[in-house]
Amino acid sequence: MVPSAFVVVTALLLRLGSANLADESELPSEYGSLWPLPQSVNTSPELYRLSEVTFQIVHSPHSTASVGCSILDNAFRRYFAYIFSVSARSEGWAPATSETSGSSAEELRELQVTLTASDPECTQHPRSTSSEAYEISVAQPVAILKSENVWGALRGLETFSQLVYEDEYNTHLVNKTEIVDSPRFAHRGVLLDTSRHYLPVKVILETLDAMSFNKFNVFHWHIVDDPSFPYQSITFPELSAQGAYHPFTHIYTLTDVQIIIEYARERGIRVIPEFDTPGHTQSWKGQSNLLTPCYNGEKLTGSFGPINPTLNTTYDFINQLFKEISWVFPDEYIHLGGDEVNFDCWKSNPRITQFMQKQGFGTDYRKLESFYIQKVLDIVASNLKGYMVWQEVFDNGVKIKPDTIVEVWMESNMKAELSKVTLAGFTTILAAPWYLDYISYGQDWQKYYRTEPLHFNGTAAQKKLVIGGEACLWGEYVDATNLASRLWPRASAVSERLWSSAETTNLSDAYKRLSKHRCRMVRRGIPAEPLFVGYCDYEYKGL
Ligand SMILES: *[C@@H]1O[C@H](CO)[C@@H](O)[C@H](O)[C@H]1NC(C)=O
Ligand SMILES: *[C@@H]1O[C@H](CO)[C@@H](O)[C@H](O)[C@H]1NC(C)=O
Ligand SMILES: *[C@@H]1O[C@H](CO)[C@@H](O)[C@H](O)[C@H]1NC(C)=O
Ligand SMILES: *[C@@H]1O[C@H](CO)[C@@H](O)[C@H](O)[C@H]1NC(C)=O
Repeated sequence: MVPSAFVVVTALLLRLGSANLADESELPSEYGSLWPLPQSVNTSPELYRLSEVTFQIVHSPHSTASVGCSILDNAFRRYFAYIFSVSARSEGWAPATSETSGSSAEELRELQVTLTASDPECTQHPRSTSSEAYEISVAQPVAILKSENVWGALRGLETFSQLVYEDEYNTHLVNKTEIVDSPRFAHRGVLLDTSRHYLPVKVILETLDAMSFNKFNVFHWHIVDDPSFPYQSITFPELSAQGAYHPFTHIYTLTDVQIIIEYARERGIRVIPEFDTPGHTQSWKGQSNLLTPCYNGEKLTGSFGPINPTLNTTYDFINQLFKEISWVFPDEYIHLGGDEVNFDCWKSNPRITQFMQKQGFGTDYRKLESFYIQKVLDIVASNLKGYMVWQEVFDNGVKIKPDTIVEVWMESNMKAELSKVTLAGFTTILAAPWYLDYISYGQDWQKYYRTEPLHFNGTAAQKKLVIGGEACLWGEYVDATNLASRLWPRASAVSERLWSSAETTNLSDAYKRLSKHRCRMVRRGIPAEPLFVGYCDYEYKGL
């Protein structure tokens, strides 16, 4: 049969292509398993041994943080467990003692963590301007990790844990190493969609863990959309009572949201909620007189369209809802959506037609959309929040504040759009090349990896306005059963593109490091899918 023969040949070709990459050299990367690659790494052949019994991660006496800075104390415990695979042992894995060690290397006794800022931000939330820079020096007798504040320390702890490896006797070893590191882009996000499928809190927390292994720092929470409204509002409980898939089991309570925000904070991750309007709001039916009733000629059809922008009550509602959201979510930004508004229902409604005439909008429904969004933007700004929007809001000429972040998601004209948005002076982030919900055969991580966010026509000043990007996992075909394996390690390709230098482009070196990084995620309990043929020392054993 022709089709199947074609499939076989294609698969073979793909196999050959991938095999070339995998087999280029059996030698490991000179950067071991570091992911994303730090800005500067100097490794020497000198080796040190770490003993689970004596090794400690401690505050340096010179640090401006000390015991009681719980975000760091917790991170010390977490990374100690990752380094010595404490959880792997509980599954019957026996640790090596120093007596059975095959290495005569000297012992590294401590990792000392030094924070230098007068306020190391132990109790704060990470911000878009927070420094994540750090330096690591691994040398006898102690290793030093230095950063301004807790956020850099968290990134450095992850890097230190990636430097430690085991030899065949299960001895933990680390090379003498100097690292100086900071991210290339400040905004490195993962978008999860909890409307198309409900994601249990545990799955979101697991994703936050995996994000921290990849130095992502923004969780873009696309929390509600057409299919369901799982956010349980304090002010408007009817929204989830009527809009969630189930009013008790498929919701996020205030406590759930607070648990997620705190878990993210402890990993240096901001939580930016998205309440997309005026389209994508079919599930907002719990609020009466909010959605536009659609007509067929003179008659009501019984169905509803986007939010009704002609009623004053709409803005009273929006004002109260966003006041609550601004209080519940501490980040300085809220994502207001604004994408893909379907005008058909607005066009069918005689009262909207009347309003259009009164306002002098003619038949340009984009003007009506702008009228609505303008009001919402003013309401959100009055709550002292900044906002992010999808690119349509900019494209439709809505007046936006100078500090608005425009998210570019349409892949076909992405470079032209980046030029336009930045020429207009707006900050932007890129999502278009990284829609991870689109799947294909083979190593598509390479495609994500190759994308260079600054490859568009623009001045240096314009390029400065690109502050990062997001890996987006839309939820049509994703729920708790396949989220982790679909996201990881494909999103890792995005994390290195956004963290590491623009010159970090060697695919075969990336393959070597990413294969190991993927096995490390597996070992830490994340069922990240394989890149290609191979194995991990510690395979995933299921739940
Ligand atoms: C670490 O040290 C070992 C032993 O000297 C050496 O073989 C290896 O190449 C070093 N690793 C790196 C990344 O330099
Ligand atoms: C809606 O608000 C506007 C501006 O405050 C006001 O002029 C108008 O009369 C109000 N309409 C209704 C129906 O209350
Ligand atoms: C950038 O500008 C050059 C010269 O005007 C043009 O040839 C090229 O197609 C542009 N590239 C993009 C990606 O727009
Ligand atoms: C890319 O990485 C591979 C494997 O680490 C290395 O052998 C090769 O020399 C590198 N290529 C370039 C152009 O640096």
